[in-house]
This record gives sequence, structure tokens and C-alpha cells, in this order.
Amino acid sequence: MAKRIITTDTMEEDIRLEPGLRPKLLSEYIGQEKVKSTLNIFIEAARQRKDSLDHVLFYGPPGLGKTTLACIVANEMDVNIKITSGPAIEKPGEMAAILNNLQEGDVLFIDEIHRLNRQVEEVLYPAMEDFAIDIMIGKGAAARSIRLDLPKFTLIGATTRAGMLSAPLRDRFGVVNHLEYYSEKELQTIILRSADMLGVRIDSRGALEIARRSRGTPRLANRMLKRVRDYAQVRYDGRISAEIASEALDLLEVDRYGLDRIDREILELMMDKFGGGPVGLDTLAAAIGEDSGTIEDVYEPYLIKNGFLNRTPKGRVVTDFAYEHLGRTK
Ligand code: ADE
Repeated sequence: MAKRIITTDTMEEDIRLEPGLRPKLLSEYIGQEKVKSTLNIFIEAARQRKDSLDHVLFYGPPGLGKTTLACIVANEMDVNIKITSGPAIEKPGEMAAILNNLQEGDVLFIDEIHRLNRQVEEVLYPAMEDFAIDIMIGKGAAARSIRLDLPKFTLIGATTRAGMLSAPLRDRFGVVNHLEYYSEKELQTIILRSADMLGVRIDSRGALEIARRSRGTPRLANRMLKRVRDYAQVRYDGRISAEIASEALDLLEVDRYGLDRIDREILELMMDKFGGGPVGLDTLAAAIGEDSGTIEDVYEPYLIKNGFLNRTPKGRVVTDFAYEHLGRTK
């Protein structure tokens, strides 16, 4: 791993619970080929120049590997990584302290970077551009600002949507990477790798069955693998076949397209209450009792990508395929 991983607050759980399954090198990382080859070149170039890496932004739906990639970058550059998140940094002084504690070359990873407040974000501008922070001393007429130099560091930001970032912040990232949903084949490979590391016996068809239902998301694939393992162990002899995986996932209410209970609730509600749409995001969110940001970032992208939902200028519309899949008529 990177020399040292320092986490704060909410990221603790994410990074410590599954330390073993995360790939530690770019060469071990499965999928996201375009992102990997871009990173490979930037890392190699920075290494040759003995320079720090340019600031990197990852955006895309949750669970696709943004934190993992940040840790890999730090590891490949052989530097420390400090992990925090947008909502965890409330005051400009906290951001200044974090920056001031970095060492030359370190990676600072800020998850959910779009949730930094304005004043905190403004501390980042000179830090990213000139490796310096401006600190105000004194009050009123006597107030003046002094500039404090920082070590050269790499900021890695992660966000679910690049459009949520302010333009000045977005423009300060030298490398911007979009993470895509993984293919079934890639997820199958990830599941087989994880099973191997966890000592779980699974055949390739069993892995494919879990892959199909993982919403293109490795975090879900690994989570489901563990639940299916439990099921296979209690009900059978521990070995996971396609049939056993299918039984276990039915029990978990994940259908063959990877839709879970909430996905189906969204679609059914749109059909039953809004005649299939168009319905506005906020109306939909209120009817479901979910935060509209969560629907937009977590649920909707997968439903749209897989042809269950369309986004139109008038609002969201359920597709014929969704009616068919849920066994309903218009
Ligand atoms: N575990 C979680 N995501 C992974 C990936 N992309 N490659 C390999 N193992 C993983």
C-alpha cells in the first residue's frame, strides 16, 4: 500500500472494512481501461521527472472504485495518502490545517468534493494552483493576509457528477476521469478474484450470476459475493454454483437485472401514481421519501443506462421495457 493511509470520519468504514479485496496496483485493477491507461502515463511521467502528480478528479456513480484508484495512485507514487470528505471539512481553518500537515508529494483525497462549502473551497484554489494558502491575521482595519507556502502535493477529488463542481474548482484539475459501469465480464473477473482472496469456492457461472445482478458496480458485487457465500455455507456445502447464487439473490430481492427493492419501488410508483410519467425529480423524490440527490446519483443512472427510465425535458418517463420487466400493462 501507500506508505501511510490516514483517514478521517466517514471514510474510515469504507477503507478499513474491505482492505483485503482492494487492488493495490494499477496492474491488478480490473476494468476502467481508459482511466487506467491515462493514469499509467501520468504516473510514469511524474515518476521520471521525480515530480508530484497533477491534481486528479474522478467522477461517476458510487461504488465504481474512486477511493481504490486514489489509493493505487498514492501506492504507485510511493507517497502517503490522507483521506477525507467534503462534508467533513466545515471551516476554512480545518482545510488549511490539513493542507499544512501534508508532506512533499503526498496525496490528499477528498471524497464528495462537490459538498465542500464555498469558503472551504476557496482555500483550495491557491493551494492547488500555487501550493500556498492565504491566512488572515487580525481583524477590521488591521486585518491583513499572509501567504504560507505548502509542500507540493496531489489533490485527488471524487464526485458523483462533475457538473456539481464549481467551474473554478473543476478547472484546477489537470486530469479528469469519468468512471463507467463495469461489464458483466469484468465483474465476473472481479468476483472470481475476490472469491479466491476470501477462500470461497465458486465456479465461473456462479460468478457470472452474481455479476449480472451487481448493477455494474464492484462494491455491490463484492458485498453480494459475501452474502451468497453465507447462504451457500448454511444451506449447502459452501460451493457457489449459478443456481445457488440465483436462489440467494432472489432471497435478497435483487432481480436478474440487478434491480433492488428501491429501484422497483421507483418504477412502480411512477407507473401507479404518475401514469408512467413524465414526472419531475423532486416530485418523485418526495413520493418515494428519498433525497432527490440520491435518486439522481445512485438509482437513476443505472435505470437509464439499462433502458428502464428516460429523462425528457418534461421529466422522467418509464419505458415499455420497464412495464414488461415488472409484468405490468400500461
Ligand atoms: N475490487 C473492487 N474493484 C476492483 C477492481 N476494479 N479490480 C479488482 N478488484 C476489485
